Amino acid sequence: MDDNNPMSDPDQWEADLERRYPPVEQGEQAVSEFRNYQAEVRPTVKAFYRLNHQHQTFEFVKQKRKQFLSLERQSMGIWEALEFLNTLVDDSDPDTDLSQIEHLLQAAEAIRADGHPRWFILTGLIHDLGKILCLFGEPQWAVVGDTFPVGCAYSDSIVYHEFFRLNADWEHPVYSTECGIYQRHEGLENIMMSWGHDEYLYHVTKSYLPIEAQYMIRYHSFYPGHRENAYQHLFSARDHQLFEWVRKFNPYDLYSKSDERPDIEQLKPFYLDLIAEFFPSQLAW
Ligand SMILES: [Fe+2]
Ligand SMILES: [Fe+2]
Repeated sequence: MDDNNPMSDPDQWEADLERRYPPVEQGEQAVSEFRNYQAEVRPTVKAFYRLNHQHQTFEFVKQKRKQFLSLERQSMGIWEALEFLNTLVDDSDPDTDLSQIEHLLQAAEAIRADGHPRWFILTGLIHDLGKILCLFGEPQWAVVGDTFPVGCAYSDSIVYHEFFRLNADWEHPVYSTECGIYQRHEGLENIMMSWGHDEYLYHVTKSYLPIEAQYMIRYHSFYPGHRENAYQHLFSARDHQLFEWVRKFNPYDLYSKSDERPDIEQLKPFYLDLIAEFFPSQLAW
């Protein structure tokens, strides 16, 4: 096991999310989310959370924002980025596991099939492109995983909360308090989130997309916020409204996976048109 990358594939975190939040059929009661969860979790996933919770400190996030958010690494179009992301090789079974591009196309196609607006379909197509951070050499724990605010107390509704005891901010006089460096109901736009693929892609794409899409991208891994209703003391009234869209997006991310592989070449012309409708041919990454 690679000490920095305990999971054979960064998608193991998402497979595990699906187990933590099983789909609820219509008319059915939601099953208690944490039932047997921690007993069944794979050791590699547990090791991943341990690293994530230990290292995602306020200082770490500041440093990563400085390193990546100047967007001076590469110039690439959206489809090019999809193909680049697809070169992410993992040790998982290629016959049963979907490639990155297949997951993104399945999510987008499910959104399209439900008759949602074009910007929503596009959001499905691109939402995980920030995972190219892995190809820039970043470890899994700094690319994927549930996200959460830093600079204030880590909510005990974050999975494996106990691992935050290893975090340098755990006993910090300010960062360990409920609001930390923030004001009550300050609004998420002013809150620094743990570093990962959501925040990175948000900065790459924000000027081209409606605010609802920006929220879906920026907070899709913020499970403590959109699934556990944690951190409500930091939400503004606007955040509450826009989180309806984050929640609307989530099932397409978690439950659109199917064994039927999308026909990439057949779908490509539709998506190239859609991309061109919103994005310039080159973006700064
Ligand atoms: Fe994601
Ligand atoms: Fe995803």
